[in-house]
Amino acid sequence: MGKRFKGFTLLLMVMIFALIAAGCNSGDSDSGSGSGSGSGVDVGIILPTKDEPRWVQDEQRFKDALADSDYSTEILFSQGSSAKEKENVEALLNKGIKVLIITPHDGAAAAAAVEAAKKDDVTVIAYDRLITDTDAVDYYVTFDSLAVGAAQAQYLLDNIEGSGVPLYLYAGAASDNNAFLFFEGAWKVLQPKIADGTLVIANSSEAEALKDSADLSREDLGKIIGQVTTNWDPNEAKNKAQTHLTAASDAQKGDVAILAPNDGTARSIADVFASDSAVTNYLLTGQDAEKASIQYIIDEKQSMTVFKDVRTLVEDAMGMAIEVLDGNTPETTGTYDNGQVEVKAKQTDVIVVDKENVKQELIDSEYYDASEFTGLE
Ligand code: GAL
Repeated sequence: MGKRFKGFTLLLMVMIFALIAAGCNSGDSDSGSGSGSGSGVDVGIILPTKDEPRWVQDEQRFKDALADSDYSTEILFSQGSSAKEKENVEALLNKGIKVLIITPHDGAAAAAAVEAAKKDDVTVIAYDRLITDTDAVDYYVTFDSLAVGAAQAQYLLDNIEGSGVPLYLYAGAASDNNAFLFFEGAWKVLQPKIADGTLVIANSSEAEALKDSADLSREDLGKIIGQVTTNWDPNEAKNKAQTHLTAASDAQKGDVAILAPNDGTARSIADVFASDSAVTNYLLTGQDAEKASIQYIIDEKQSMTVFKDVRTLVEDAMGMAIEVLDGNTPETTGTYDNGQVEVKAKQTDVIVVDKENVKQELIDSEYYDASEFTGLE
């Protein structure tokens, strides 16, 4: 080996060592931590993506809640990739976590990642989205997702006028168990009014074919979701809405009702419907109380959102983690069937927010500050 090469090798080794040391200190750039109880990490938290404000919101609420925790934590993001998610789990296992709090990007694909955690005796808490078809999930903290869909649908029914109102249906990602629950909850409320002609489906032949079925099987739901999914992606929602309006007849415009699964997709859909002059009015649902949608609600560009108080979910998840670390059994309120086992769950209620109560629910409760919005009365 030549001298130059040897010198280079030494330099390389020094650099690698420096990189490893830096990595040990800060984790990945998305990490955050509590005050710490030793050298390792006690609780690992994995969120699905930073591309949706919903999850950035959860990160902030975790950070607020952990500010004076005795246990050390680290938060990683999977950026919409199951492979990255698995890497994140492995990185946290290497740091010695005892509890893993995880929102899967894809509920079924995440099974392999949590099975690895289980092998290391780590307690797994599914956060907001269930991990399916595995026995490696110990607990689930969630909002009442059927109630989310039901509330969206009820809002549409309470505010439509007359009959024969065109109904546009949109759904979340088929890889997310919640998307099924939201749609199922909405369908139960909407279906009788579709069957009696109050509402007329405008954009889904699959939903149209099932309009006389009050109870949809998972397979039925999959068919409709497959057709009207947004994949939780605002761009996909926008493209779909544009395609639907281009194909729609005049009778399918006028005053319309739109079931949008969450705020990010609702805002894109709103922009498309607002720019069509044959749409005279639209009622539009949402979910998550994202700041940008609160402004849309104040400006009457989105009709409502379903507020999920993430502070409660964070409190429940961390409360469970601490019980586990302290050697106790966390309290739960029910169970969720994940296709393989009944997962013990703690469930939280949701709140419907529209222009009438936005100040009371979100500002007076100190979830947001009034200064973050304009035109709030
Ligand atoms: C769901 C979650 C919703 C929404 C959506 C998009 O699983 O429950 O609150 O944020 O994902 O990411």
